[in-house]
Amino acid sequence: MKKSSLSKLTQSVHAGSVGDSQYKGAVTPIYPSSAYDYQDIPEILYPRYFNTPNQRAVAEKIAALENAEDGLIFSSGMSAIMTTLFALLKKGDHAVFQSDLYGGTMHAVNTEFLRFGIECTFVDGSVPENFEKAIRPETKVIYIETPSNPTLKITDLKAVASIAKRHEVTTVIDNTFASPVNQNPIDQGIDIVAHSGTKYIGGHSDICCGAVVASKGWIDKIRKSAVNTGGSLDAHTSWLVERSLKTIVLRVRQQNQNALAIAEYLVTDQRIDRVYYPGLSSHPDHAIAKAQMPGGFGGMLSFEVKDNAFKFMDRLKLIKRAVSLGGVESTITSPAQTSHSKISAAERASLGIKDSLVRLSVGIEETEDLINDIKQALA
Ligand SMILES: Cc1ncc(COP(=O)(O)O)c(C=O)c1O
Repeated sequence: MKKSSLSKLTQSVHAGSVGDSQYKGAVTPIYPSSAYDYQDIPEILYPRYFNTPNQRAVAEKIAALENAEDGLIFSSGMSAIMTTLFALLKKGDHAVFQSDLYGGTMHAVNTEFLRFGIECTFVDGSVPENFEKAIRPETKVIYIETPSNPTLKITDLKAVASIAKRHEVTTVIDNTFASPVNQNPIDQGIDIVAHSGTKYIGGHSDICCGAVVASKGWIDKIRKSAVNTGGSLDAHTSWLVERSLKTIVLRVRQQNQNALAIAEYLVTDQRIDRVYYPGLSSHPDHAIAKAQMPGGFGGMLSFEVKDNAFKFMDRLKLIKRAVSLGGVESTITSPAQTSHSKISAAERASLGIKDSLVRLSVGIEETEDLINDIKQALA
């Protein structure tokens, strides 16, 4: 798709908006109808067909921010991810997954796919050749997530896209952690981009939604499955997501700045064992991250505390202990207790997820206040 000449900041405010032809109001009206006249229109509008005005408005805004041709808005990130994968895969097919995925995606793949005769291989995504080695004649999909959850590993988007193209395999990425502000995988050759919109797209810890963006051809194919599985989002929430997106660039810029400052402070504190953040020059794949994340390195970082991690989290005053991420308020979790609790302790160990690891989702608060909160909570 031809990139818009407008900046992301401008697109975040204007892209996709539906004009208020009746009253000339400044914002997209809410169209709650689930029943529409079917005469003299190019397509039948219906919420489960993913094509009502508020659904289209928000899908178009996300597509614009991702430099994609088209998009769909879903009722959750998992609905977006699983609908996409089921649209691309059938019995007898094989898919290659990066091993350090969001725990819920890993769990869904492990429990659902085998029942439908779809085989999966998991590989360490930090070495692109691992994907190529795992490809078989029946491989249809390579699925990645970068930066990864929770150890912020980087997968080289261009390298994976070129391997996939050589073998005629479709690439899908979960771009939740980076957000459309920092990383646009379609620009790097990736085919389909999924998001848990519950995170940076919603941005205020009060909406559950998901999104998929890609070329028109891919979106038409995914929509056919989506209409069958029915994970659509209602008009009111779609409208709220459009509203949230108007500030995504401002929010994420502040989150990027805060996360980098916190990571830089943490590496200097003796009470910390290890810091995982792609924006640090000490990160093993900092150069790749710099090239493929032109907007910034994101608001997610993880670190291992020398003291008991659970007691450290108890002592925090400003940073809230909470599952999920991407909100304007800073939140912290223990991946072993939350996102990765569904996988075995052995699998966690192989992914480097220790009990001492905490994952911080940095909000938009004043940087100094966040650093001071962490300092006072470290024993
Ligand atoms: C990286 C990532 N992908 C996907 C999901 C699933 O999204 P949702 O909870 O909106 O279904 C999550 C949820 O935590 C996530 O962190």
